[in-house]
Amino acid sequence: MARKPLMAGNWKMNLNHVEAVGLLQKLTWTLEDKKHDPDKSEVVVLPPFTDLRTVQTLVDGDRLEIGYGAQDVSAFDNGAYTGDISADMLVKLGCRYVVVGHSERRRFHGEDDNIVNAKTLKAVSRGMVPIVCVGERLAVREQFRHVPDTLHHVEGALVGLTSDQVANMVIAYEPVWAIGTGRVATPEDAQEVCTAIRGWIRERHGGEVSDRIRILYGGSVNARNVAALMAQSDIDGCLVGAASLKVDEFSAIARFYEMPVI
Ligand code: 13P
Repeated sequence: MARKPLMAGNWKMNLNHVEAVGLLQKLTWTLEDKKHDPDKSEVVVLPPFTDLRTVQTLVDGDRLEIGYGAQDVSAFDNGAYTGDISADMLVKLGCRYVVVGHSERRRFHGEDDNIVNAKTLKAVSRGMVPIVCVGERLAVREQFRHVPDTLHHVEGALVGLTSDQVANMVIAYEPVWAIGTGRVATPEDAQEVCTAIRGWIRERHGGEVSDRIRILYGGSVNARNVAALMAQSDIDGCLVGAASLKVDEFSAIARFYEMPVI
C-alpha cells in the first residue's frame, strides 16, 4: 500500500505568532509558485503553542493546503499542571498532529518512555496523530546498539495502543547525534533503523499495520540530502528542524520528488 510522504517542519522554540504568519504565507506562495503536488507529499508545520491560534486562523481562513500540529501535549486531561497544554486544547485549535517524545523533551524535561507512552495514548484518544520520536545517542551508535536501543524506545512508546491506532500514527527516527549537528545519517543507516522499526511493527501488529504506518527520518535534513533519504523504501518522510525555518529550503524538501538522488 502506498504511504503518502509526510514532510513535517518542527519549528522548535522559534518564530513568534507574527513571524509565523509571514513564514506560512511565504511557504504557501512558494509551494504554489513551484507547483507543489499535494498528492506527492503532505506538508505540515509544528509551531510553538503560542502560534497555534494564529496558524489555525490563517490555515482555515485562507484554506491553506498545509497541516499543522503541536510540539508536545500533556499526559493529563486538565487541572493543576502549571505550564502544560492538554490534548483537548490542541484539538480545539485544530491540531491534527502532535510531536511526542522529542529527544529535546527527553533531555531537558526528563521525559522517559513511560511519559512518552502516556502522552501518545492521550493524543490518540483525542483523535490526534502522534509523531513519536525515537533514536539513539552517539555513545549507543558507537557501540553498534542503535537498532535494539531504538526498538526499545518504540516498544515503550506503544504500550497499550491498538493495531488500528498504531497504523495511523507516525514514528520519527531521529538519532540524537544527527539533530542540529549537520551530521545527517547516511540513507543506508537511516533505512537500516526504519526497516527494523517496520519489522518490529509487523511482528507485533501484522503486515497490514506495518504497511500503513508512516516512519520518518529526522536529523540535519536539508534540500540537498532529502532525495537520497526519500529513495529508501522504509523512509516515508522527514521531520525537519532548522531547514523548516527557511521557506525556500523547506519548500524544496517538500518537493523532494523533483530532485535528483545524489
Ligand atoms: P534539525 O533538522 O535541525 O537537525 O532538527 C531535527 C529535529 O530535531 C526535528 O525534530
